[in-house]
Amino acid sequence: MDRDEIVCNCMGVTAGEIQDAIEAGARTVEEIQEATGAGTVCGGCVGEIQQMLEE
Ligand code: FES
Repeated sequence: MDRDEIVCNCMGVTAGEIQDAIEAGARTVEEIQEATGAGTVCGGCVGEIQQMLEE
């Protein structure tokens, strides 16, 4: 996945920002939400965040 790719359209959060949050220690969707704001509006990107956590 390209780091510049937008994962969360609602908050404009990129794959890179989520990757950085994971590298900084986020291990759950909730922690990603706290760190980046991604997944806190419509929730449509939560599945994709979950997938990134699993990889
Ligand atoms: S696309 Fe992420 S909360 Fe809506």
